[in-house]
Amino acid sequence: MQFQLSEEHLMIQKAAHDFAVNECLPGVIDRDEHQRFPREQIMQLADLGFMGMMVNPEYGGSGMDTVSYVLAMEEISKIDASVSVCMSVNNSLVCYGLQSYGSEEQKQQYLTPIAQGKKDGELYIGAFLLSEPEAGSDATSQQTKAEDMGDYYLLNGTKNWITNGSSASVYLVIAQTDASKGSRGINCLIVEKNWPGVTVAAKENKLGIRGSDTHTIMFTDVKVPKANRVGEDGFGFTFAMKTLAGGRIGIASQALGIASGAYELALKYSKTRKAFGKEIAQHQAIQFKLADMATRIEAARLLCLKAAWEKDNGIDYTLSSSMAKVFASETAMWVTVEAVQVHGGYGFVKEYHVERLMRDAKITQIYEGTSEVQRIVIGRSILK
Ligand code: CAA
Repeated sequence: MQFQLSEEHLMIQKAAHDFAVNECLPGVIDRDEHQRFPREQIMQLADLGFMGMMVNPEYGGSGMDTVSYVLAMEEISKIDASVSVCMSVNNSLVCYGLQSYGSEEQKQQYLTPIAQGKKDGELYIGAFLLSEPEAGSDATSQQTKAEDMGDYYLLNGTKNWITNGSSASVYLVIAQTDASKGSRGINCLIVEKNWPGVTVAAKENKLGIRGSDTHTIMFTDVKVPKANRVGEDGFGFTFAMKTLAGGRIGIASQALGIASGAYELALKYSKTRKAFGKEIAQHQAIQFKLADMATRIEAARLLCLKAAWEKDNGIDYTLSSSMAKVFASETAMWVTVEAVQVHGGYGFVKEYHVERLMRDAKITQIYEGTSEVQRIVIGRSILK
């Protein structure tokens, strides 16, 4: 067993760190305040090859491993989780899904530009549309219908809380074709945003990750060619579950980054701020908080890396990705609250960044499967 990163991993980590500090930090407070999508930063990520990190170079990707992805996600999330969620959805839900289960034509037409993050010099990314007004955790209860019309599907329904909702050009839409078959009657369809009948509706006004564009998307009589179905008829729910298992490594790494970003700020602050005649880091009350933060973050990091390593080595990572996500997201929530506390009054104002990290942490316990859903997955896995 080795607990050391390779030269290549260290280079990727440094590239992500430099990108986050130089390109994401300036303007992060303003983007959060005004809910502005980080388009410029995502275009730069595309140039770095980070929008299709694990995609085969044959299809426009960078051919990196999942460990590299975890390292990059952590570094970028330390500074701006709105940038990293866009990157995560594109990499692990859209690119991974198309690379693993898409047809050759789908890979040529959609995966290649999505992995590059650009088409004809313009932003070109994807979104994953599973959640609905009444199908969040209970993901098999899809109300969006993909009626089989012979050579096409007629798509009708509404999807909620869609990351990259307005910035994506391509949607992977999970929809019910045959309700009598339950989870086996669900399909995943590739839908282009500019097709007739697709409406990008309300943008959510959110607590955190405010730079990320989260929308409701509506479909009215959208004709989707059969060639745009991913996998066999009825494969859609399995597709969603398998794809989300990898997505959860991405969100776990995002949570890890949010936690370590807040911890680094708290550590730095506690070594400069003085109270009762010494740096507050010298007071045991603060030292114990820092010690607990560092320990929990290290445990979260090891869980993320283990899940990534399993994925890279062809081992079933469903259990480890859920463990990583539930632990890292709960760590992020706890650490960021404590980081605000260490900062005292300064922690409550925007310029010190920790209040934003605390708001951003909350969503990691909710999206791509709530902490409760992760416990269902873990429970079923250890009891089977
Ligand atoms: N891999 C392969 N197949 C799987 C699977 C997996 N990981 N998990 C379940 N399945 C299969 C089951 O074997 C079963 O198949 P059969 O009927 O053939 O036996 C079928 O799928 C149905 O599974 P369950 O009976 O376990 O389904 P369930 O109704 O009990 O739900 C659940 C299970 C784990 C709660 C699931 O619904 C779930 O994960 N819910 C959360 C959904 C979620 O993560 N949403 C996030 C939205 S996306 C997002 O947030 C993106 C973003 O923008 C950031």
